[in-house]
Amino acid sequence: MLDEANKNLRSIFSKFATGVTAVTFKSSNNLNLGITVNSYTSLSLDPPLILWCLDKDSDLYEEITNLDNYIINFLSEDQKDLANSLAQKNDHTLNQDQYISIDHGLVIKNSIGWLSCSKNQTIDSGDHSILIADVNHSEISEGYPLVFWGSNYRSLLR
Ligand SMILES: Cc1cc2nc3c(=O)[nH]c(=O)nc-3n(C[C@H](O)[C@H](O)[C@H](O)COP(=O)(O)O)c2cc1C
Repeated sequence: MLDEANKNLRSIFSKFATGVTAVTFKSSNNLNLGITVNSYTSLSLDPPLILWCLDKDSDLYEEITNLDNYIINFLSEDQKDLANSLAQKNDHTLNQDQYISIDHGLVIKNSIGWLSCSKNQTIDSGDHSILIADVNHSEISEGYPLVFWGSNYRSLLR
């Protein structure tokens, strides 16, 4: 019964179209990592705040909730492979050709924009935690977003 309700909930949740982001960061053991996230939402303009939700079952949960800083990259419609690779369990390592390392952090090449964020607060809620972060810096680039809808990647134009 619970499984059926859970299936229905997944189905209705999937009917809400989102963009796709990659949250990138240097781990405590100095690895350059990223995780695919579509729960990103803008939260406040003044002060500038964003939020996203992290699964408590994630192998990266402790690592990410202890981070002071990270980058949220808005993926372009051409970055489906990157989104898939950073959504794999046990392998969140960025390839050297996928990012540049700058003072703000690890920026995915050819994204349509990115935000440099620092931890503000973490709120425990259900099977996820809500991560609220201050936005310290942002950059905008050309391009169209990668869209996630109905459990599949889409493009705005098709
Ligand atoms: C399109 C897409 C969006 C996702 N969004 C989120 C998200 O918002 N929060 C989250 O915790 N995991 C999200 N995931 C799952 C993670 O990317 C990743 O698959 C999962 O963290 C793998 O398990 P691990 O963290 O234990 O390695 C998403 C996956 C996909 C494909």
